[in-house]
Amino acid sequence: MQLPVLQSQFLLNPAVTYLNFGSFGACPRPIFDDYQRWQRELEFEPVQFITVTGLNYLQQSRQALSAYIHCDAGNIVYTMNPSYAINIIAKSFPLSPGDEILSTNLEYGACDRTWSYYCKKAGAKYVRQPITLPITSRAAFIEDFFKGLSPHTRAIFISHITSATALVLPVKEICDIAKQKGLITIVDGAHAPGHVPVDLSGLQADIYTGAPHKWMMTPKGCSFLYVKKEFQPLFDPLLISWGYESASPSPSRFLDYHQGQGTRDFSAFLTVPAAIRFIKEHQWETVAAACRKLVQDNAVRFCDLMEAEPISPISDEFLGQMFSIPIRTPQPEKLQRHLFDHYSIEVPVTTQDNRNFIRYSINAFNSQEDLDKLYAALQEIAPNGYHKI
Ligand SMILES: Cc1ncc(COP(=O)(O)O)c(C=O)c1O
Repeated sequence: MQLPVLQSQFLLNPAVTYLNFGSFGACPRPIFDDYQRWQRELEFEPVQFITVTGLNYLQQSRQALSAYIHCDAGNIVYTMNPSYAINIIAKSFPLSPGDEILSTNLEYGACDRTWSYYCKKAGAKYVRQPITLPITSRAAFIEDFFKGLSPHTRAIFISHITSATALVLPVKEICDIAKQKGLITIVDGAHAPGHVPVDLSGLQADIYTGAPHKWMMTPKGCSFLYVKKEFQPLFDPLLISWGYESASPSPSRFLDYHQGQGTRDFSAFLTVPAAIRFIKEHQWETVAAACRKLVQDNAVRFCDLMEAEPISPISDEFLGQMFSIPIRTPQPEKLQRHLFDHYSIEVPVTTQDNRNFIRYSINAFNSQEDLDKLYAALQEIAPNGYHKI
């Protein structure tokens, strides 16, 4: 399949070479229209929508999402973003002094901060287990990860797809082993739904968060938290409102606690069925395969330009629709700004554990030409050194 097949469906500024789908996604027109339709319906009769009809639509949306990610609709609630979901978990997680949460040094900075904060409060430890890069195999990754295990480990927290390094991690194997060791498994799947298959019935994750506003292409502010039924009683609402000690409780305290969050516009949550329809109507598996091909076809070329080694094997095993290349620059934000200001290229240059990475994302609207533009820009900047922009 030739990309870009669906360019006209997106609302993106055509003057910008958009290689940063990974940060905030981008919403196609039919899904955005659906969003605005919900917002109009809300404004047409706010009381009915917020207290009755909207709640029914929310339930239908949770059902559609749960069918898509293969779980029970009673085990998911919508949240504004994955940070919110992880805060629900970390704030109430039963931690005693000396306990440990085992994670990696590849996690998203906001989630690192959340766990560090609540672990510190409890006198517990958030262990950011160093992972050797380049990753050579799944087995090597798993071995590295479990070196951080100790008799004090209570839970593991790991990304399904990492942020700055854009790596698809072997979460199924990690969760299987962790469960055998009696640990609670928490997966940050912010980047996963709509990007790689997510099957929560097969994955031994007790807790999982994902962000449909990224690769499922809903409008911003649509994420979810999945918690296995047996663990739901552990978690208090992050925001105490009418759902706490509800005067008219629903059959699900989990839903009352985390859905009853005061007045808000939950239209973005309601677009999930439209997003799933869009994905199916446009044969997304074929689109995604073409995107992954473009990602991988260009990977070595960019690594050579950066005089860097790829941080994983270049294959579907570790890569989805993003690729991160190590880059030597002391001022990553400045380089990112420079690429935007001088070349109209939107691409993130970020830092993870003192190493900098430039990450391109590919979706249906991208083409080889987009990557050629990025390549040419980096080639032009290179002789001056990426630190001299
Ligand atoms: C791995 C990962 N986790 C979580 C998030 C969610 O971030 P936020 O809650 O700020 O939307 C992101 C966002 O890019 C991410 O890449």
